[in-house]
Amino acid sequence: MTKEKVRIIIGSDHAAYDLKERVKMFLIDKHIYIEDVGSFGKDSVDYPDYGIKVASEVSRGKFERGILMCGTGIGMSMVANKFPRVRAALCTDLFAAMMSRRHNNSNILVMGGRVTGDVLALEIVKTWLETPFEGGRHQERLEKFDDLDG
Ligand code: RB5
Repeated sequence: MTKEKVRIIIGSDHAAYDLKERVKMFLIDKHIYIEDVGSFGKDSVDYPDYGIKVASEVSRGKFERGILMCGTGIGMSMVANKFPRVRAALCTDLFAAMMSRRHNNSNILVMGGRVTGDVLALEIVKTWLETPFEGGRHQERLEKFDDLDG
């Protein structure tokens, strides 16, 4: 697991509540500090409410990393990427998780609770946390869009 003292803010809607709980327990088990903004059950809620809570904190630098989950991961990605300096990556496999860190320095991982099974999801989280950003030319590319609305 990553050596840096990472603090992670995490949120989901009802469609990914079970996955959020699994991911949360996995991270707590690794002694990673977690702030859970909800949802806190399976009653139907609106994913933007939770996406905004997580992405706004990452955008303001209050948390360096976030994890968002909804049914497909698509809605949460759309919401999160509205925020300056948020680079949210919807990942359904380990290669995407790895490359989203190496080349895109993703700071929010997004997954779909109705798409990705628990075992793969936890491997995606582990890969995403352990893979460093390569910087260099990739940093220059990020700077071309990272602060467009900031
Ligand atoms: C909820 O039914 C569903 O629309 C939501 O979880 C998400 O998949 C939206 O993108």
